[in-house]
Amino acid sequence: MLREPEALRSHTAEAHRRGRTVGIVPTMGALHEGHLSLVRRAAAECDEVVVTVFVNPLQFGAGEDLGRYPRRVAEDAAMATAAGADWIFAPDVGAMYPAGFQTSVRVGALGSHWEAESRPGHFDGVATVVVKLLVLAQPERAYFGEKDFQQLQVVRRVVADLGLGTEIVACPTVRDPDGLALSSRNAYLGPAARQAARSLWSALAAGEAAIGAGLRDPTLVGQCMWRELERDPLVHPDYAAAVDPATLEVPYRLAGAVRLLVAATVGGTRLIDNLGCWATPLGLADRDDSGPIATEAARGGLLHAGGRPENRSQG
Ligand code: PAJ
Repeated sequence: MLREPEALRSHTAEAHRRGRTVGIVPTMGALHEGHLSLVRRAAAECDEVVVTVFVNPLQFGAGEDLGRYPRRVAEDAAMATAAGADWIFAPDVGAMYPAGFQTSVRVGALGSHWEAESRPGHFDGVATVVVKLLVLAQPERAYFGEKDFQQLQVVRRVVADLGLGTEIVACPTVRDPDGLALSSRNAYLGPAARQAARSLWSALAAGEAAIGAGLRDPTLVGQCMWRELERDPLVHPDYAAAVDPATLEVPYRLAGAVRLLVAATVGGTRLIDNLGCWATPLGLADRDDSGPIATEAARGGLLHAGGRPENRSQG
């Protein structure tokens, strides 16, 4: 277990001197199968794997769950090691941000909507810690989950913009059998909220079904997902949108790759999820969003898909 940033730097530098490739898996701990899927992938692709466990205060806003975020480093270290990690880097806040620390990475447009509207400054905090970890470890590859799709795109942008040279590897979302994406924050859900949290997956499945049925107006797809979220009184939707995966902007019309994004507070816990899907070109007869498919979708009649996740593309 490494505690000091300089220890991380010297261990990975030594690995590179020996001609070994280094993979890094940044986490905030409370590890679950989603995190471990990243560790296993890193272990399969890199000679040495560093898992970082650090609850980064810079990315939490006032009134968020920084204080109560689950912390269990010894258990995390055992799980990560069993999944193939060679090193656990678990620094104290004071080691990462010593007195006088005052530098931050500011993310542009990608980090300013969706999650950022509820969590101002969040992505600057993520970008700052990720850049610091990548500069210290200089890994060949860094592994991130699609579960946090906006974060993944922000990290890709930051690494490209700052020329850090690390390859960012995106890993598919790991889900419970009923579709709920694994998240350390699921631990906050009581039984009723856990049940209600399935709505996020149902909403994504409904959005995917709407697109599959020919809907190409992103506003109508968003409304269809929102309605699905609203069906459970414990769920308070924050956003539901069909966006361009590269820019996270809502296009005029859906064509090609689409990312469906949802966020909601469920029994007091804020959850996010997303799904990649594909809007194929339509025949002329299907083109009109005021046509029968769209009208049906807008009424919410057609699209109560709630399929099992394993039958769905994860993109
Ligand atoms: P954390 O929420 O601990 O997640 C660490 C990594 O695990 C992220 O890349 C996240 O997308 C991935 N992950 C979480 N749940 C997953 C799931 N169900 N399936 C697949 N991957 C999943 O994200 C953070 O920490 C922090 O913001 C961090 C990047 C470490 C910066 O502090």
